[in-house]
Amino acid sequence: MQDKPVVLILAAGLGTRMKSETAKVLHEVAGRPLIVWAVETARAAGAERVIAILGHQSETVREVLDARYGAGEVEIALQPEQKGTGHAVQCALPALGDEPDDRIVAILSGDAPLLASERVAALVAACRDSQAGLALLSTHPPRPVHYGRLVRNDAGVLQRIVEHKDASSEERAIQEMNAGFYAVRLGHLRADVAGLSDDNAQGELYLTDMAAHAAQRGGAAVIDAPFEEVSGINDRVDLAAVTTVARRRINEDWMRAGVTMAQPEQTFIDADAGPLGRDVWLGPGVHLRGKTSLGDGAHVDAGCVLTDVEVASGAYIKPYSVLSEAVIGSAAEIGPFTHCRPGTQVDEGAKLGNFVETKKTHLMAGAKANHLAYLGDASIGAKANIGAGTITCNYDGFQKHKTVIEAGAFIGSDSQLVAPVTVGRGAYVASGTTITRDVPRSALALARVKQINKEGWADRFRDAQGKRNVKRED
Ligand code: UD1
Ligand code: MG
Repeated sequence: MQDKPVVLILAAGLGTRMKSETAKVLHEVAGRPLIVWAVETARAAGAERVIAILGHQSETVREVLDARYGAGEVEIALQPEQKGTGHAVQCALPALGDEPDDRIVAILSGDAPLLASERVAALVAACRDSQAGLALLSTHPPRPVHYGRLVRNDAGVLQRIVEHKDASSEERAIQEMNAGFYAVRLGHLRADVAGLSDDNAQGELYLTDMAAHAAQRGGAAVIDAPFEEVSGINDRVDLAAVTTVARRRINEDWMRAGVTMAQPEQTFIDADAGPLGRDVWLGPGVHLRGKTSLGDGAHVDAGCVLTDVEVASGAYIKPYSVLSEAVIGSAAEIGPFTHCRPGTQVDEGAKLGNFVETKKTHLMAGAKANHLAYLGDASIGAKANIGAGTITCNYDGFQKHKTVIEAGAFIGSDSQLVAPVTVGRGAYVASGTTITRDVPRSALALARVKQINKEGWADRFRDAQGKRNVKRED
């Protein structure tokens, strides 16, 4: 007997109520597509194989899965036409051709991302112990929903599941509902879905008809789960509600792991972000997106948006900074109002201040660019100082070119560095200079128009204006 389940994910539905160009299972909760939530749950529950049943936009969904897990790691079964959940499973059975009848198959809804993997493991265990070879999750929704109702006999044995659209008014009064998650022995699954009929209100093949078959074998095992955990997403209101729950859980997990949040309800951490170290501090309005990670004691202040950023311990990201695909070293200081674009690397103790934009730039230890600069395709040596208003002119309209500023160099304010160009170790660039040639080590480079002072010019100018009714000021 096999212990590890094969997991089928039902994900072919059209998701009409999303009113979207995007397949429902590609809509995201906390930065992760719904289908990925289901695959993660399956894997965490020890799935030996994961098979996603796809229909709508299957190629796009396949690409997302292949990019994340490696080509073919998540298997795909196609359901070209959506004729119901039972039909979806029929379409997946050929992929299970070589599996033994006693194999346990867990079937998950692809649109309910909050299901805990422990719940899947519990379903699998209940299926193993059940004489009928079927276990399913029930739930008691706190508000009216159009779920299938669990019909039990007087002895409490589950007799069948009746879909809302097929239910009588008495059946609709039943509060115990089908959550849409199952574990079933493959032998029974094969037999049960082979004989499904579409003689029902929706003209579909209902997977839920398995319950009636199991009643003849002694009745399915039923595990009750909180509605919040199993509720599926049908429209964007559901998407927002589930996202709120997912984010709260993510935040609570990180707070328990030692992260302080000034205002958890205003802190947005993607499911794939982390690790976040101990004593990390997050201000209100912080977004940690993608695979962003933060070292111990890192401080990310209000309104910062970090996407795929690696921040080392003790770094301080000041308010309203936007960083993407960047690596920030320990005790570095960024912001306020800094924009680090992809390929930015800031080493230990280096600083980027307000209105500094960087792209593909490496700022080595202790280097500083504190105000108003654009640094693109640049290498900036240790302890170099970049004055306010410095611009690397990295683009000639066709190609990008590199600027190298060596260790300890001092770039005066309002300088332009026309790349490709190198400023040597310890060299000075005078303020307002346009550098077009390499600067040797320890040199001073000065390239600006010589200053002329015209004595008394300003007074003469004002007098001339005075003839046009502008008063002279002393
Ligand atoms: C289903 C259950 C219902 C349960 C509810 C819980 C059936 C017949 N009914 O109803 O008892 O209370 O879930 O949410 O199963 N799908 C396919 N192919 C299809 C149809 C659906 O892959 O042809 C997928 C959908 O993408 C979705 C899942 O199956 O992920 C559930 O389908 P949905 O149409 O939402 O089922 P419900 O009518 O809500
Ligand atoms: Mg539904």
